[in-house]
Amino acid sequence: MNKIINLTLKVWRQKNAQSQGRFETYKAEGIDTAMSFLEMLDVVNERLTKEGREPIAFDHDCREGICGACGAVINGRPHGPLKGTTLCQLHMRHFKDGQTLVIEPWRAGGFPVLKDLAVDRSAFDRVMQAGGFISVKTGQACDTNAVAVPKDKADTAMDTAECIGCGACVAACPNASAMLFVAAKVVHLNILPQGEVEKDRRALNMVKQMDAEGFGNCSNAYQCEAACPKEISVEHIARLNKYHRQATRQD
Ligand code: SF4
Ligand code: FES
Repeated sequence: MNKIINLTLKVWRQKNAQSQGRFETYKAEGIDTAMSFLEMLDVVNERLTKEGREPIAFDHDCREGICGACGAVINGRPHGPLKGTTLCQLHMRHFKDGQTLVIEPWRAGGFPVLKDLAVDRSAFDRVMQAGGFISVKTGQACDTNAVAVPKDKADTAMDTAECIGCGACVAACPNASAMLFVAAKVVHLNILPQGEVEKDRRALNMVKQMDAEGFGNCSNAYQCEAACPKEISVEHIARLNKYHRQATRQD
């Protein structure tokens, strides 16, 4: 059954990447536990706006857990305390009346703060532009089933295709590594026959761009997998390393 709860929010406020940020405290009162976390922020923002104060900036789009736009660190955990859940799909019934929540943006050199909780994730776009696509002709829709794909490979491709590019893996990692994201994207394409043609170039170029963007290396902390709203396994990082090693030998 729905309940009404009151919370204290300590929210990171920052004008832009150049300015210094600070925590500000707000009351979130009369919150229905059926609300999502973003709806709770909407309520707080409505009040701030009515009071003539600057609302809290945060990213969102689909609010259905599919676009990858939302994200913030709640009490130290990217996307909050629930496993396999985006911030927009996190509901307030998972919090207690009277609880204090510390809300911060993703913290990573590769994701500069745009404002408050909104960060610039265009580094991920540039990693994708470096090789996260198939440029060979793959035929029309009716050709889809003409190329046989073994079930295990199709399953792996589907698992990795779940990555929504949210960046929680980077925010969770002590090295701000983007390896889980890059692994998901490279494995998704490399494992399919259509992606085979460019597999070496893809692995080399995407890893090179990932490094150029300032993301760190993987040191097996496994925090990325724990934070990933799509529960993408770190086993794909091993696959990425294999592809990268093979491509380096071919180079
Ligand atoms: S691997 Fe998971 S946490 Fe990282 S960007 Fe993709 S969906 Fe988000
Ligand atoms: S707003 Fe689209 S995944 Fe959360």
